[in-house]
Amino acid sequence: MPVTLTIDGQQRTLAVTDDTPLLWALRDVAGVTAVKFGCGAGLCGACSVLVDGERLFSCQTPVSSVEGKQVTTVEGLTRQPLGQALAAAWEELDVVQCGYCQPGQIVAAAALLKANPKPDDAAIDEGMSGNICRCGTYNRIRAAIHRAADTARA
Ligand code: FES
Repeated sequence: MPVTLTIDGQQRTLAVTDDTPLLWALRDVAGVTAVKFGCGAGLCGACSVLVDGERLFSCQTPVSSVEGKQVTTVEGLTRQPLGQALAAAWEELDVVQCGYCQPGQIVAAAALLKANPKPDDAAIDEGMSGNICRCGTYNRIRAAIHRAADTARA
């Protein structure tokens, strides 16, 4: 059955089976390759997207469960003020090393800041705990979230 959803502000109808993971519907059918495949098992966070504002692991989300919903990837996020604040902070603080996990990190950071606009270190660590970075950029991610929290509120 085709599934209709909104991806980064654009309504799309995708020819997929109901149980296709949202990750593969986005990457292979919709062509949104900013969403990354890491573990495929809900363990790394690389595939994070927002669904109606809530962060989900797209590898664990059947596409049929997001029928009619708003899916936001890092691409759509960086067209919004909060996403732009995050992207700027990431760039200013040279957060990225290999970069592979960073789209998911920024999506998770956006979900965190929507829920808690001024998180302390403990709240950041808890909010970001579902996202693994094999390069170990955690300290720079934390600093960039503080910076984005400051600039997004200014
Ligand atoms: Fe989905 Fe790792 S690819 S959590």
